[in-house]
Amino acid sequence: MTSTTPGASVAPAPRAHLASVPVYIPGRSAAEAMAEHGIKEAVKLASNEVPFGPLPGVAEALASAVSDTARYADHDSDVLAERYAGELGLTRAHVAVGPGSVGLLQQLTLAYAGPDDDVLYPWPSFIAYPQFSGVVAANRVVVPLRRCSIDVDAVLTAITPQTRIVFIANPNNPISGALRTDDLRRLLDGAPADCLVVIDEAYREFVTGADVGDALQHLAEFPNLVVLRTLSKAYGMAGLRVGFLIADPVVVAAVYATMIPFAVNGPAQAAAMVALDQQAEVRRRCAVIIEERQRGAQELRRRGLGVPDSQGNFWWLPAGDRSTEITVALEQRGVVVRPFPTGIRVTVGLPAENAAFLSALDGVLADDPTRTGSWTLPTGARAQRTADLLDRIRPRLSRTSADARAADRVAARLAELGDDDWALLEAGVGPFGDLAETAEWMASSAGDPGVHVGGE
Ligand SMILES: Cc1ncc(COP(=O)(O)O)c(C=O)c1O
Repeated sequence: MTSTTPGASVAPAPRAHLASVPVYIPGRSAAEAMAEHGIKEAVKLASNEVPFGPLPGVAEALASAVSDTARYADHDSDVLAERYAGELGLTRAHVAVGPGSVGLLQQLTLAYAGPDDDVLYPWPSFIAYPQFSGVVAANRVVVPLRRCSIDVDAVLTAITPQTRIVFIANPNNPISGALRTDDLRRLLDGAPADCLVVIDEAYREFVTGADVGDALQHLAEFPNLVVLRTLSKAYGMAGLRVGFLIADPVVVAAVYATMIPFAVNGPAQAAAMVALDQQAEVRRRCAVIIEERQRGAQELRRRGLGVPDSQGNFWWLPAGDRSTEITVALEQRGVVVRPFPTGIRVTVGLPAENAAFLSALDGVLADDPTRTGSWTLPTGARAQRTADLLDRIRPRLSRTSADARAADRVAARLAELGDDDWALLEAGVGPFGDLAETAEWMASSAGDPGVHVGGE
């Protein structure tokens, strides 16, 4: 019974449905890890930030904007929105600026979904999707990933007349794969016009796959398409909170309607204007991360550890139910990573930070080699077979594929094969009859691990 006694000693209860809403848990800081484990140094590779200082001009823009902080800033970030829209060849009405792309995700959810509506997203994915759809008391409809990939057919099948929003992170987080161009198109073609399809491209600048879908290409054709971008990742401004939502003007107006006043502060707006001038430097920094991402993936695979291909600034270690234990052991050795129920996400850092991670991982696995036992991807003998197979097919791959990373891609595809498909491969059955041809297929977009090859 609700108490009406003045001064009752219990605080009022929040709305009941909030009890089942997942709360955002930030990655641990290096300082927290150092204090807990009594260590003198730690690197944080837990929040998908970039490891660089501010872009040129950003610190100066912040310093100069500070003199104006007694005043409210531009509520709608008009100048910034206009500038960003211009860069995309769109009008101001197509862009909303918000406090990080996650702020815009929340505003969008408030504007479009409520009790009795369905909000749908593949899983595992970004925690903000269940959080915000839970806050508005919408039904959360989850479509499991299939072999680390978004299963577009399953997503389309799960859409009902009640579905108001589909959230897709592309590349996905924490599992690092990306949606192919034809899958993105199929999703947009198949989704009903009254259901928003939100393509969250927080990691777009790190994409190297030629066949990864680019949502902005489809904007003119689909008024229900919403694209999210951010300055938090590649632009190194996570602490300043600036994100962009690009959509039909009707959607943009609705998103502004649910924004708290002056959500993006003046120094952040000023810094964003300067950061957008630094495209060449952003590309240079991303190239460093991308090279480290490829190098680190090779290093992990060389150790017999399967990691899926990554299109973001992070690796996914499918450590299964040993994830928390391995995370703690890494922390004790000074490397802070992010555990999830089925794996560990490790942000790609500077070369020295990545070397520290690999060396810590070596120590953790040397202490207890069974820690890789539950990884769903190949280890031990299967990893050795993969290495042998790659050695055999490499000459043919380099003759037939112009792409120097073809062998890497095959390694990633092989790593993602389930046990049944692996057995078929060993037996030379089906598409695996001719190993070299199979490898070429795997190196091409058709070899996406989301394409099932074993006859399930
Ligand atoms: C998929 C995805 N979307 C959005 C965000 C949030 O970015 P922002 O800092 O712009 O709010 C993240 C952050 O980790 C993310 O992984």
